[in-house]
Amino acid sequence: MSENRQFRLAARPDGEIKDSDFELVTESIPKPVDNQFVVATTHISLDPAMRGWMSAARSYIPPVKVGGVMRALVVGRVTASRHPKFAPGDWVHGPFGVQEYAVSDGLGAYRIEVTDRLTPASYLGVLGLTGLTAYFGLLDVGRLRQGESVLVSGAAGGVGTAVGQIAKIKDAIVFGVAGGPEKCRMLVEELGFDGAIDYKGGDLHDALREETPDRVDVFFDNVGGVVLDEGLTRLQHGARVVLCGAVSHYNAREPVGGPGNYLALLVSRASMTGFVVSDFAIRYQERSPSSPAGSTRGACAASRTPWRAISRSSRACSLASSAAKTPASSLSS
Ligand SMILES: NC(=O)c1ccc[n+]([C@@H]2O[C@H](COP(=O)([O-])OP(=O)(O)OC[C@H]3O[C@@H](n4cnc5c(N)ncnc54)[C@H](OP(=O)(O)O)[C@@H]3O)[C@@H](O)[C@H]2O)c1
Repeated sequence: MSENRQFRLAARPDGEIKDSDFELVTESIPKPVDNQFVVATTHISLDPAMRGWMSAARSYIPPVKVGGVMRALVVGRVTASRHPKFAPGDWVHGPFGVQEYAVSDGLGAYRIEVTDRLTPASYLGVLGLTGLTAYFGLLDVGRLRQGESVLVSGAAGGVGTAVGQIAKIKDAIVFGVAGGPEKCRMLVEELGFDGAIDYKGGDLHDALREETPDRVDVFFDNVGGVVLDEGLTRLQHGARVVLCGAVSHYNAREPVGGPGNYLALLVSRASMTGFVVSDFAIRYQERSPSSPAGSTRGACAASRTPWRAISRSSRACSLASSAAKTPASSLSS
């Protein structure tokens, strides 16, 4: 193949993403100069965070420029290199974007070890930022202690499934909030959650109350909105609420209001803490499969099947449009 197809941001989305917010551009495959390498994409992670990166609003990372290649976390193989640390054939992970080939100076990139068990895809799931988010969010921000209880929203997504499984490894009692009976069944029967609440299935307030009569010590929220508000009513004394994300808000056109039940924090002497996984970048080496953290994550099942990038079609626009509301596992081609 001599061409590089890439999706560029054509316009900042207003509300839901439209296909016209992207442009499919074909250009030559880049060539590396000194201290650069070229990577051929094999897998792209479609993450809710991408919706935020398209917006000009203040955030923890600069927005993607209009006209720029859409930012995405990618796994691929080095095809050419003039970089001392990366050689042709190396498997690499990095923010290489929604394109078939990328040139990199190594910033944010790292070599990965691929084996039968450590698949390239797993580095976009439990062994990647998804797993690290769950790991640091639950254990450092949520300060989960042995035998405590955890409520996690967005429980059937990439972060949520890892949170629940790490919590089980720590002997916690785990409840997940997910949309639909099939996802709830999967959480309990396949991933070992102690209970699951279908937020689409009826009165969420009553269902949470019924499922968590003893309340919870850690509430790990990926969703915001009504789910956050109702989760706040289930806090145990001294609970920790972990603000990981707010996927229900990412397409909002208007400013998002705060939770009505925030006084539950006062009543429960609870805390609510936001975090960004890169706060823990200095400890990312805990990802090593031979380290304690690595083996913790290694015991987790991955929920997402990263989509094989752009390979045979130009469906990336519509797939990326769904990324802010759909688990990547349902996006496999
Ligand atoms: N703080 C950080 O550093 C950091 C890092 C990575 C990710 N995150 C955040 O973590 C969250 C989860 O990311 P992920 O990678 O796990 O995403 P994901 O795999 O796409 O899962 C997101 C889940 O959210 C649920 N969801 C979507 N819209 C919803 C709505 N309106 N109300 C309730 N639930 C909804 C979906 O499940 P249902 O079908 O069950 O609704 C889906 O399973 C996101 O908010 C993301 O931005 C934060």
